[in-house]
Amino acid sequence: MTGGGDCPGLNAVIRAVTKTAISKYSMKVWGIEDGYLGLIEKRMHPLRYEDVSNILGAGGTILGSNNTTNPSKYPVMNKAGKVVYKDVSDSCVKFLKQKKIDALVIIGGDGTMTSAAAFAKKGLTVVGVPKTIDNDLWGTDVTFGFDTAVTTAAEAIDKLRTTASSHHRVMVVEVMGRYAGWIALHAGVASGSDVILIPEIPYKIEKVCEFVRQRSNKGRSYSIIVVAEGAKELGGKMVVSKTVACSPDPIRLGGIANKVAEQIEQITKLEARSVVLGYIQRGGTPTPWDRILATSFGNTAIELLVSGVKNRLVVLKNNKLSSVPLSQVAGRTRTVPKDSSLVKAARAVNTCFGD
Ligand code: F6P
Repeated sequence: MTGGGDCPGLNAVIRAVTKTAISKYSMKVWGIEDGYLGLIEKRMHPLRYEDVSNILGAGGTILGSNNTTNPSKYPVMNKAGKVVYKDVSDSCVKFLKQKKIDALVIIGGDGTMTSAAAFAKKGLTVVGVPKTIDNDLWGTDVTFGFDTAVTTAAEAIDKLRTTASSHHRVMVVEVMGRYAGWIALHAGVASGSDVILIPEIPYKIEKVCEFVRQRSNKGRSYSIIVVAEGAKELGGKMVVSKTVACSPDPIRLGGIANKVAEQIEQITKLEARSVVLGYIQRGGTPTPWDRILATSFGNTAIELLVSGVKNRLVVLKNNKLSSVPLSQVAGRTRTVPKDSSLVKAARAVNTCFGD
């Protein structure tokens, strides 16, 4: 099952899980459709070896995904025609037992893993595989999908640099990442951005403006600012674009780049533009590194199950594949340490964090 927001490399994991299970262990594999929604609606189909051929480099997920369904808080209509929220996880467990499913491989981020841990508590055998472009899953040093998102963002910023330069503008680029600044930090460093704003280091707009103004005074005719969607001013709040009621995390962030560009234009009188990279960061073919990581994660998931290990998340720690208990991952977020070596390296090359 693939749950949560899609990301490059999901198909590579599905392929690795299915091929290892079938060819090495003669198992039968079923694919649950559209994440927990499909499980609740009892939608799944057999996955044959040939179903997963030629999908290694394909973006998205052949199983479909969903990030608005929480089995412990599922909307149903009561007799009075009113929507009420019900825990439907017991009926999911019953369905899987009826279908004689021995184990679940759940590919997802923190919302998906929180529900996975709850299913494990109810007696299901579960192994999690860490997915998300945000790279914010606790327990692993890296999630698959992150490298592709950073590559896409860095390439986009390279393109924005030429137009910013031609027009002598300040270009403010918003990237995804939720409450963590991993994508902004990595894409910002990789593209040589002048300012990087991340949630972990609240910024002062005056500092950002001063930095941009000084660049302009020194004859640097343009500046590039990369801002994480979760970045916020010191003492301020994150910019929320909408709330999605039944989602495990109902908050959707977005809009900070526009706010920063307007403030810069107003305070410095330099011309500024904003651009939101959005879903292109989640799309497209995975990078070779993400294909390798996804294949290793998928293979490890089956090897763990075969060796009797259950209810754990496959992780990459210090460049070694291992696993951590799902119960430890649930409800936690891995953010950028303020004193990380990459933050220090960025500061050393005069990148401004607005603090
Ligand atoms: O978790 C992946 C992610 O793309 C985040 O970076 C972003 O905040 C969120 O999902 C967007 O969610 P949705 O697909 O519901 O708009």
